[in-house]
Amino acid sequence: MITTKLKIRTFGDPCLRQRSACVKKVGPAERMLIEAMLATIGEKETDIGLAAPQIGINKQIFVVDLPDFPHVFVDPKITRTEGKETMEEGCLSFPGIAFKVTRPRKIWLDYLDEYNNPRHLECEGFYARVVLHETDHLNGKLLVDHATRKEAEEKKDLLGQLENKTREALKANG
Ligand code: NI
Repeated sequence: MITTKLKIRTFGDPCLRQRSACVKKVGPAERMLIEAMLATIGEKETDIGLAAPQIGINKQIFVVDLPDFPHVFVDPKITRTEGKETMEEGCLSFPGIAFKVTRPRKIWLDYLDEYNNPRHLECEGFYARVVLHETDHLNGKLLVDHATRKEAEEKKDLLGQLENKTREALKANG
């Protein structure tokens, strides 16, 4: 088992803005990636979800660490949504910055598990929110894209600082 903690990409890193490729079939490379991702979010109780683009891999995979809920989602497709709810959300790629995000309250989705089994899931509330947040990552969409103009304005400085820090670090690492 891989226990190395993966480096989390932060806002300003171009890989967070790319649309991730469909996996279609989970092979040994994807399984290793999934294991490393699970080990990474398993470290802190506050870390709930992690999408592959957040570690610089643009593949449609995300992992979730919640009790009584699937842990691995590959090629997710949201097939239906219902209702609306607004809640504050955080993201590992936006350390220390939270946003109010309005999302559907209930969702239905199809996805593959880590053994290539097609799965169907119906979930709501916080669970639906986590799935939608991680699915956004696979489409290059981020928390900041959900912000109202007022909220974006309020957090402009914080976001600018984070973006600069990310870019500096990317430059330093070549
Ligand atoms: Ni996130």
